[in-house]
Order: sequence, then C-alpha cells, then structure tokens
Amino acid sequence: MTATLKVLCATLALSLPATIASTESHVDPAIQGAITARQSHMRLYAHNLGALGAMARGMVEYDAERASAAASNLLALSQLSQGSYWVPGSDNSSVEGTRALPAIWANIPDVVEHAAALTAAAESLAASAGTDLASLQAGMGAVGGACGACHRAYRQSE
Ligand code: HEC
Repeated sequence: MTATLKVLCATLALSLPATIASTESHVDPAIQGAITARQSHMRLYAHNLGALGAMARGMVEYDAERASAAASNLLALSQLSQGSYWVPGSDNSSVEGTRALPAIWANIPDVVEHAAALTAAAESLAASAGTDLASLQAGMGAVGGACGACHRAYRQSE
C-alpha cells in the first residue's frame, strides 16, 4: 500500500463515524427517542419469546420457572402504555431508521386491536407456560401469531 493510500484509508475510517453521527442529528431528538424506545420494547418481546421458543423447540431443556418468568415478562411488556412511542411523523416515509409504516397512524383502532390480541395471548401463555412443556408449546402459536399479524400489517418487510 502506498503512503497516500494509507493516509486516504485512515481519513475515511475517521470520517465515516462522523458522517453517520451528523446524519442522525437531523432527526428530531424526540422522534429519535420514541423510535429507539419502541424498538427496544420490541427487542424485549423478542428476547423473552426467543427464550420460550428455544424451550418449546427442544433446543434448551424445559424449565418451568424460566418459562413462567419469560411468559410473565411478555405479558407485563404487552400491558405497558405505548402511547408515547408512536409519535406522528416517526413513520418510515418521514424518517430514517424505522420500519414503522405510515398505515399505523391511519388505523390506530386496528393497531390497538393487534396489541390487545397480543395481551390476550400472553395472558393465557403466562398462565400455562410453567405447567409443563406441552402447555408451553400449546400457547406459543397464539403469541407468535399476534406478533406476526401486526408486523405483516404495519412493519416494513426487510
Ligand atoms: C401492535 C403491533 C405490533 C405487535 C403486537 C408487535 N410488534 Fe414488533 N414491531 C411492530 C412495528 C411497527 C415495528 C417497527 C418499529 C420501528 O422500526 O420503529 C416492530 C419491530 C419489531 C422488531 C425489530 C426491532 C428493532 O430493533 O428494529 C422486533 C424484533 C419485533 N418487532 C418483535 C416483536 C415480537 C417478538 C412481538 C410479539 C411478542 C411483537 N414484535 C409484537 C409492531 C408490532
């Protein structure tokens, strides 16, 4: 590598993070915060559902206490108020870094119904997940189905 090329590579490496940071700073901090909060909420769903799925599929040994804890977490998460996350103007046609479709804001009652369907499925899973493996497996479909139904309607596919 020539000396000039080395300098160029070093310069690019240094300027890249700065470019990313300045792109992000164009987004209103309140909107950025709301997007980060809802994506974090979704990741907590995924973390707990993932633990349950691993047990349900036999990849991890069934443990009644852990199953019960993860299902209770899912239920508790589904009951948190999410109103402040879904700020108008934070859809994926208005800002970068989100997969939330504008359709959410045109169909709030339906979105709320999808959220309520998840709470209902999580309630029944929380009541049964600690019984035995078969009960956990029986309750998983409704929860996964509730996540998927909302994603199909309101999340940009990758
Ligand atoms: C009421 C609708 C709704 C329900 C119910 C729902 N999601 Fe989401 N989910 C979304 C939307 C919309 C996004 C895109 C959010 C964004 O990018 O701003 C999303 C994003 C995600 C992401 C990506 C997060 C990231 O960091 O970009 C994961 C993972 C996820 N959801 C998991 C789940 C799981 C697991 C469940 C069920 C336990 C669930 N979701 C239930 C609407 C929903």
